[in-house]
Amino acid sequence: MLGLKLPTDPRWVNIVEKNIEDILTDHAYCEQKATSTAISLIVSFPEYTELVQEMVALVKEEISHFKMVHDLILKKGWTLGRDRKDDYVIQLLTFFPKGGSRTTQLVHRLLYAALIEARSCERFRLLSEELEDKELAEFYRKLMVSEANHYTMFLGFARQYGDRKEVDKKWQDLLEFEAQIMKNLSKSETIHG
Ligand SMILES: [Fe+2]
Ligand SMILES: [Fe+2]
Repeated sequence: MLGLKLPTDPRWVNIVEKNIEDILTDHAYCEQKATSTAISLIVSFPEYTELVQEMVALVKEEISHFKMVHDLILKKGWTLGRDRKDDYVIQLLTFFPKGGSRTTQLVHRLLYAALIEARSCERFRLLSEELEDKELAEFYRKLMVSEANHYTMFLGFARQYGDRKEVDKKWQDLLEFEAQIMKNLSKSETIHG
């Protein structure tokens, strides 16, 4: 349903289980970045009224996810650590050439956002099914549902604002590229690592 070309190696969950503090820290920053992306889309594309309205709603939702993760970190007796760079996202964002019309740039940003949501959703599903800590598993099950909706929304906006055929082709190409990136990942306790 998410269109991803390469499923995550389930052994990734074993790596995560050994370091819950690191995964929660990384996850908190994923939610912060999702919030920042939504704000940035508002600032960059203010004339796309429907998008602006949806992004306002998304900012609220993503920052509430950040709070949920932050609360969980505190509940476990930890303090939020520093952000680390996300190699997955850095590599992914090199796919589309820079420049082009405003619409092209918007479509590219929407497709990147859709893919990051899709992969996060897939990873949350795996955590919800495989984690031995049932409370944490349930936490990820709820978030998985939200991220699936975000994936659908971003892809829908890309198709709405761009040329449908062109957008679908770009989406498929981006999915192929992402699968290549994933082949070298799934080895660390980060949401996308
Ligand atoms: Fe989120
Ligand atoms: Fe999201």
